[in-house]
Amino acid sequence: MDLAGKKIVLGLTGGIACYKAAELTRALIKAGASVQVVMTHAATHFITPVTMQALSNQPVYTNQWDARVGNNMPHIDLTRDADAIVIAPCSADFIFKLAHGACDDLLSTLCVARPMMLPLLLAPAMNVEMWQNAATQRNIAQLKADGINLLGPDAGEQACGETGMGRMLEPEQLLEEVVAAFQPKLLGGKRVLITAGPTFEPIDPIRGITNLSSGKMGYAIARAAREAGADVTLVSGPTALSTPYGVHRINVHTAQQMHDVVMSHVGGQNIFIAVAAVADWRVANASEQKIKKNAGSDAPQLVFEQNPDILASVAALPNTPYCVGFAAESENLVKHGKAKREKKGIPLLVGNIGPQTFGQDQNELLLFDDKGHISFPRADKQQLARQLVAEIARRIEA
Ligand code: C5P
Repeated sequence: MDLAGKKIVLGLTGGIACYKAAELTRALIKAGASVQVVMTHAATHFITPVTMQALSNQPVYTNQWDARVGNNMPHIDLTRDADAIVIAPCSADFIFKLAHGACDDLLSTLCVARPMMLPLLLAPAMNVEMWQNAATQRNIAQLKADGINLLGPDAGEQACGETGMGRMLEPEQLLEEVVAAFQPKLLGGKRVLITAGPTFEPIDPIRGITNLSSGKMGYAIARAAREAGADVTLVSGPTALSTPYGVHRINVHTAQQMHDVVMSHVGGQNIFIAVAAVADWRVANASEQKIKKNAGSDAPQLVFEQNPDILASVAALPNTPYCVGFAAESENLVKHGKAKREKKGIPLLVGNIGPQTFGQDQNELLLFDDKGHISFPRADKQQLARQLVAEIARRIEA
């Protein structure tokens, strides 16, 4: 669980997005966190403390003078064993208060009284005009200068009927941001290009050849790289997965499209990680119309031609980024992994025993470099992805 053992103080301020804080509470708890809810008076107009107490399974605090805290100092006590404060939704008024150090209710006082190293994450939520207002933007600039972390906001349709910046991030996006806040920024300032998923090679406009790759490992690596502070571009074949928050995703179908997108984006990248299960062959005589099944006639004859090797093309560039390849082998992983790394001419190759890991949430990996190999024992793909990102960061640093 991504937030196992973490204690989050979740602050709610006045805004219609309070309804999303209920989902966020559930998501944080599902990820292993305990959640202490603190609400402003305005927030209680939008969602009741009873609802938030039921979801968080803890008493909710709304009042600076709440006698339930032993020493009667909830503004101190509630954050001393916390791992982060998340304010979601964070109103324009609360942003103003934070920017000026106001202490006129429990939540604002608790933020000002927080230990210096305790992360404060704000999820702004307001009408587009309020967000764009010069005073709000001045306050936001001040909060950024103070090292406070902003999660969003997003642009889109708003509850008031207007459209634009100011929408609060969705609960699952906020969860990803909270998880990311706890990850070390090992790839801060780095640009990472990743391929993931299967490719799809058409036979005709309806049919095609693909493979069993789900894309889970590649997407987990994209998420882990972005958590580590990288600017991540994910070139993805067809998958059913949602894009990790903050990752720039480009969809492709064929290996040739994946190759062309990678080659046009590889300039300026620091790291290239080829996780996609790319088809080695495409159908040279693909039909423009659906091939008809005529009773009694012969089955169509498919003619294959080779696809470009994307990883080898990137590895052969004069200013090549640090290249990491993947290999799924059905047997003799150590022998094949070692040989494949040398053949591809790359510093690091990650081997796994496929195809039984395809679509699964867990995997185990062998990492091959010029000295030999090390193993990452069976674990969740997201956990392995973080380990791999840390390993790559260590290697490019060296
Ligand atoms: O040669 P093989 O397909 O086993 O190599 C696997 C590695 O090469 C993976 O990293 C895969 O993403 C990459 N690859 C590629 N383009 C191809 C075939 C494989 O980038 N056409």
